[in-house]
Amino acid sequence: MHLFYYRGENDLEISSGILTGLLSYKDESRNRDMVGEGTGIFDLNGRKISCEQNGDRIIIRINLNENDNIYGLGEAPIRMRRNRTKFSTITSTSWDYNDLRDTIYSAFPVFLMANTSKCTGVFVNTFGKCDFDFGTEEYDRVKITASVKNLEFYIHEGKTPEDILEWYTSLTGKPFEIPEWALGHQISRWSYFPRGSVEDVVRNYRKEFPISAVYLDIDYMDGYRIFTVDSRKFPDMKGMVSEMRSIGVEVIPIIDPGVKVDQNYEIFREFIGDYIEDKESSIYTDYVWPGEVAFPDFIRENAREKWSEMMEKFLENGFRGIWLDMNEPSTRKDSRYGSRGGNMDPEAIHIMDNGTKIEDSQVHNLFPYFQCMATYEAMRKKVEKPFILTRSAYAGCQKYAAIWTGDNKASYEDLKTQLSMVLNLGLSGMPYTGCDLGGFWGETDSELLCRYYEMAVLFPLYRNHKIKAGNDQELYRLPSFYRERLKMAIETRYHFMDQLINSAREAHLHGHPMVRPLFYNFPQDEDTFMIDDQYMLGRKILVAPQIHESVRERDLYLPEGKWVSYPGNVEIEGKQWISSDLRIPLFVRRS
Ligand code: GLC
Repeated sequence: MHLFYYRGENDLEISSGILTGLLSYKDESRNRDMVGEGTGIFDLNGRKISCEQNGDRIIIRINLNENDNIYGLGEAPIRMRRNRTKFSTITSTSWDYNDLRDTIYSAFPVFLMANTSKCTGVFVNTFGKCDFDFGTEEYDRVKITASVKNLEFYIHEGKTPEDILEWYTSLTGKPFEIPEWALGHQISRWSYFPRGSVEDVVRNYRKEFPISAVYLDIDYMDGYRIFTVDSRKFPDMKGMVSEMRSIGVEVIPIIDPGVKVDQNYEIFREFIGDYIEDKESSIYTDYVWPGEVAFPDFIRENAREKWSEMMEKFLENGFRGIWLDMNEPSTRKDSRYGSRGGNMDPEAIHIMDNGTKIEDSQVHNLFPYFQCMATYEAMRKKVEKPFILTRSAYAGCQKYAAIWTGDNKASYEDLKTQLSMVLNLGLSGMPYTGCDLGGFWGETDSELLCRYYEMAVLFPLYRNHKIKAGNDQELYRLPSFYRERLKMAIETRYHFMDQLINSAREAHLHGHPMVRPLFYNFPQDEDTFMIDDQYMLGRKILVAPQIHESVRERDLYLPEGKWVSYPGNVEIEGKQWISSDLRIPLFVRRS
């Protein structure tokens, strides 16, 4: 193993404290594997890496080989292969993300450079904004510019992408163990309420379709005050959760991070002293669903402990899953982090446990990380196998949460994008991923809804979700032709449930993505690197979804081996392109 590690001159107190907590990396191996430290030029098996400090910026350049294929950096709504693109990693709100060419919601400063003979992984542990340029500014180099005062840089060379994911997750932590029910078909809407309506929807679904969870969006709360329940809509939440469980359905409530500023609200009062502040040392406030809100400063142990306590209390309702949303954190006031919607003022102030004050721009990405951590810690005390679904995350969040691709659209363009986002999330260490089936924004017609269910048939998470002002897309409402197709898709998923469970186990133990692009399993096969409209669950199952509007037949690639189609059991020799007009072209590798 080779490692190049850099920590800047102006080491802040924060480095050791946070990094030790954040990474599971051991100090001895760090020293043993280090090939260089500080600024200068380094060599990793012939690959040149340079590092310079330029004012408040750290610039790292890595030489690219002509045949390197770059992937990773979490979710960006564009093609999967990252060559000739540039991105910033900063956790940020991303309304209407289809027009963006940047990473969204989360920050995963980790990428792979793969070719047929080797795979190199890079992880830039930086909690502020970091810019990645993959050969647009300098054709034969990756250029990384971090507007922070200190960072850690890791690079590791392995034979295969699998080696890199194992290395990266040994550095940042192995994924949590996802409960099996979370791999089932889940339903959601902004918002199902009151209790009677939730029960009606669940009852209607279950006449024809299996479901394993129903989500409660923001309207279950009392005036959007987190950790409260509107008792007019849900007079007996505990009773409802337990009744749902008795029929095999978990209830998952949403929790946002913003706490309504309201002196009469206990939760608001509890966090006083542990909120993010402004430059004048007052509580920093912004605007989200409840109106004016303040944000617990999750970097502080005290804030995390309080959050965990509140969460534990809230879990007494019987919840086994929690949905963490808007945790970039998302706001309505400021958009100085760019055009991606509202984000917190970068000059807002965090006060570290030791009293050091630090601007949000330096530690911004840690907000979702520590919120997930505090939530997970609370859940572990109450629930055997907790499940957290988060919208925002930072590298390492795989230890605590699953992630979905946020507010996608009811469009064919977004349908394809979801696939590349899910694949790159997996390559960035997040194995439990999914998207809003049908598309969150806009109107989904029955055909598009089927295409979503068919494309995502073996995605780790399988959840239908929709915005308030959008069509009703509960499957049982559809005309029979489409209901039959949806039943087929869901039956196919449940047919492969054992394989889903096995790959979840593999993810938990080794950090491998549950669903991967073809090159992950066949890195010696040059043909696989550009394919981003097919995926594999584990090593054996390949799906080549029909994702183009009005097109029923597609070309697809089967790598070497013997494959059999499902259903139908037709045997096909691999290492060739074939065409298929099946609704869900799916193949299982025999050898
Ligand atoms: C955000 C979430 C979405 C949720 C909505 C209301 O837009 O991404 O899933 O339904 O907020 O809570």
